Amino acid sequence: MTERLESREKVTGTARYAFEYPVENVAYVAAVQASVGRGEITAVGTEAAMALPGVLAVLSCENAPRLSDPPDGELAVFQSRTVSYRGQFVAAVVGETLETAREAARLVHVEYAPEAPDVRLRTDHPSLYQPGKVNPVFPADTEQGEPEEVFNNSAVRVDVTYTTPAEHNNPMEPHATIALWDEHGYLTLYDSTQGASTVQSMVAQTFGLDPSHVRVVAPHVGGGFGSKGIPKPNVVLAAMAAGAAGRPVKFAVPRQQMYATTGYRTPTIQRLRLGADNDGRLNAILHDVVEQTSTVKEFAEQTATPTRVMYQAPHRRTSHRLVPLDVPTPSWMRAPGETPGMYALESVMDELAIATGIDPIELRIRNDTDREPESGLPFSSRNLVACLQEGAARFGWAGRDPATGVRWEGRKLIGTGVAASTYPAYMSPNRAIARAEPDGTFTVRIAAADIGTGARTALALIAAETLKADLGDVRVELGDSAFPRASVAGGSSGTAGWGTAVVRACEALRAKLNGAVAGGRGGSSHAGNGAIPPEGLEAAADTGAELKAREKYARHAFGAQFAEVEVDADTGEVRVRRMLGVFAAGRIINPATARSQFIGGMTMGVGMALLEESVMDEEFGDFLNRDLAQYHVPACADVRDIDAAWVEESDPHLNPMGSKGIGEIGIVGAAAAVGNAVHHATGIRVRHLPITPATLL
Ligand code: MOS
Repeated sequence: MTERLESREKVTGTARYAFEYPVENVAYVAAVQASVGRGEITAVGTEAAMALPGVLAVLSCENAPRLSDPPDGELAVFQSRTVSYRGQFVAAVVGETLETAREAARLVHVEYAPEAPDVRLRTDHPSLYQPGKVNPVFPADTEQGEPEEVFNNSAVRVDVTYTTPAEHNNPMEPHATIALWDEHGYLTLYDSTQGASTVQSMVAQTFGLDPSHVRVVAPHVGGGFGSKGIPKPNVVLAAMAAGAAGRPVKFAVPRQQMYATTGYRTPTIQRLRLGADNDGRLNAILHDVVEQTSTVKEFAEQTATPTRVMYQAPHRRTSHRLVPLDVPTPSWMRAPGETPGMYALESVMDELAIATGIDPIELRIRNDTDREPESGLPFSSRNLVACLQEGAARFGWAGRDPATGVRWEGRKLIGTGVAASTYPAYMSPNRAIARAEPDGTFTVRIAAADIGTGARTALALIAAETLKADLGDVRVELGDSAFPRASVAGGSSGTAGWGTAVVRACEALRAKLNGAVAGGRGGSSHAGNGAIPPEGLEAAADTGAELKAREKYARHAFGAQFAEVEVDADTGEVRVRRMLGVFAAGRIINPATARSQFIGGMTMGVGMALLEESVMDEEFGDFLNRDLAQYHVPACADVRDIDAAWVEESDPHLNPMGSKGIGEIGIVGAAAAVGNAVHHATGIRVRHLPITPATLL
């Protein structure tokens, strides 16, 4: 158990976040958002804003520089007169102070030729289409056997539709950027991002720069949950504003503006059909999803992909359909796809358990499989059953009475629920450098991001183990695109992808050190490291080839979530009394930060189940939520007793560490466990999130 290496800096406030870098002669940016949901900008009145003392520039579609090749439509800031959604950035002010910029932004007068926005997701929308793929690279549709026919002829059939609302990531640190251009046209960005290398290449493409002319610095990041996985319009806006003002600028997106501009989880409408025989063996699974995207950029959430992984059934279908609406583009939010998809699938499994009279754990065990159902590939390891059984023992599941609405404690109804979790064990190519310093310490450099996960600490542990060095002698430097190129802190792939590069770099360094010792070269210094030249000794690694050569396995983490709820029969208020998650996620590198990832994800699942909902204004467009008073996330009082555990898993087919990734699986299935517990308590099956008091009365 290792405490996070930067914990002292964080709690003493010396860990620097993007907006906090001291920059000389810095100016401030405030953005103007579209006040119509759709239409054309006919004029931008800037006189009043420019007349305010201290205003340096006003930018809009009327005067913004042409961008070279923005890689997606959301990054084409001020390149068109078209308003694609309410709240889109349509102008910005650069001022000497933040107050000046904000005041001037209010004085920018944008005129529109408005049209009625179409923002309502529905399954009969005329623009519904099948995307070419779903995020990131999965086929939109799959089908095996005769699912409809077999479903229709099954002894037990469950045919239900679940819906989930839009949800917003809401990291504690809002999206923020400092942009500086030097006299040679080099751009430096201090940016709150999950991937410095990704921002570097996407911003370079946007402005037509060589990537080596863009540097992105982000050693500390206050959360992202996916919303900082790729640059959002604020980054482009900051760079553009710095150019226009001829000064470095700071731009922090106020939380009020994040709801329209920095991404959210798409709402979903999911029809699920499970056909089984009387003993609960699934014959047919059909999972058909409708969700939204914007008119600016396609984002297709992979909501039905976990259904391709979870349970055996010879006849199966998954499909995704998109409706392009006049809304901001949805984006990644913690376990995109698995989170809404498993909410629906695991709720419907509970419905099937009741329809067949089989215990919900037993039902899942009966439908377990040792090959990934749709690909036919063997799992590298799959310990769903172990998680269910271990969780059942720890939680006290044995002897549970399946009857609903019968356990009273005063005016409270009590119930328990279970759901499964899964998340893919992704891994991306990475590079890293390991250095032996003349003083006997080691430095590892990689452009990875620590977004609060403990990545820095995990990589230091991995490096120390490979180098056979003391943790205290290993320094990990990350969060800088000047370091070797790294994949994004996303898809729960960081430790696996970055860690492999760190292991390979450290192994190469050890080989060099041994060579140096054997060759007896050099003079110096530290015991054990024999012959380190004064400039240090360095080794680099690139895992691209290694990843390509990997054997074909289905690689996924699994888990089981248990919840006990009490429901106030008079008010409909739901309280989660206790929650337990048991996960099988390969080797756990650092139990302290791993536990924090698991219970953080589970807590977010409680929010999804009971609190979180972004409400679209159907007349005017845009989300009505503007802050954490209107968008509720769980507070300490909402989380009374939450625990995470894991089963030991030794899987040789993953990576040198044997790890699977833990950042996202904690949220997967959590909302279903809570919803299933609410049903057990009350007998009411709510098929729409969040489960508010009103839905139970
Ligand atoms: Mo995660 S939503 O892949 O950053």
